[in-house]
Amino acid sequence: MLPGDVGQVFFASSGSEAVESALKLARQYYHFKGEPRRFKFIARRGAYHGQTMGALSILGSAHPMRPVMEPGVPGAVFVDPPYCYRCPWNQSYPGCDLLCAETVKTVIEFEMPDLVAGVIGEPIMQGYGALSFPKEYWARVREICDQHGVLLIVDEVITGFGRTGSWFATEEIGVLPDIITMAKGITSGYMPLSAAACRPKVTECMPMFLHLHTWGSHPVACAAGLKNLEIIKREGLVARSREMGAYLLAGLKELERHPVVGEARGTGLWCALDLTADKASRAMFATEDSPAPALVRRARDKGLIIKFMGPALEFAPAADHLHGRG
Ligand SMILES: Cc1ncc(COP(=O)(O)O)c(C=O)c1O
Repeated sequence: MLPGDVGQVFFASSGSEAVESALKLARQYYHFKGEPRRFKFIARRGAYHGQTMGALSILGSAHPMRPVMEPGVPGAVFVDPPYCYRCPWNQSYPGCDLLCAETVKTVIEFEMPDLVAGVIGEPIMQGYGALSFPKEYWARVREICDQHGVLLIVDEVITGFGRTGSWFATEEIGVLPDIITMAKGITSGYMPLSAAACRPKVTECMPMFLHLHTWGSHPVACAAGLKNLEIIKREGLVARSREMGAYLLAGLKELERHPVVGEARGTGLWCALDLTADKASRAMFATEDSPAPALVRRARDKGLIIKFMGPALEFAPAADHLHGRG
């Protein structure tokens, strides 16, 4: 199922462990390749990659863990994400020269390429609510990584196995990462299972990958994963995620007329309404004024589970026929 030659898989139990494994794969790749000074990872502000120390160190938001847990693992460097609705560079796509991707280049060069091990990112980011990026973004980031011999790690812990209407969001962003992490959808949560998968080039210099977990590759979790993937295939749930996602997004788009709805966006069955206190300036609500918590409670009272994520309300319904429309 994995794209290209991404096919060597290390199984663990949680998304955080998958990310931790990916960071260790990258560090060991450079160690055995004879470039042991490469230790830095470039992540995005707003990113979430989990709670183990390596994953927590690349957490792209300050609250609530970083102030308590700093210092993390050395080497985490952050760049602003492509957030077109509130562009950090005050630009408008497509006339923006893709500054969001170019900043990755500038930062790698400033941090010194021979010290940089990887660029890591969610292909669609949860931080500001189901945030997808300009279509050229990932291709340009891939190109920049190749120019500097830096590994590209795509964190598909949320997006993997159909959430966005493709098996992997990597198919949508149109690049081949060196390492992909995955978790939630691999068993749909029936058993804890996660994985970091890489291209053969990552492991070919290694005598072995120096990493292990007692419950890694647990056979019961793997059996649940195989059965779950068989069901997703048999019931055509990936195509259904795409089809129902388009239906959901079309409905949400109608809400853009509402004074507090700045932007409706989404990919497959992962959608968001980005809320604003002022449509002209696109200002976020101050935490105490945000209508989001009350909306989440009201939805729950009506039997709908949604959540708020930063400035946005997020919708990620099940794709199966019992829970979906019709
Ligand atoms: C993109 C991403 N990576 C990693 C993780 C961490 O996964 P876990 O909570 O299973 O450790 C999450 C969890 O939500 C996630 O969204």
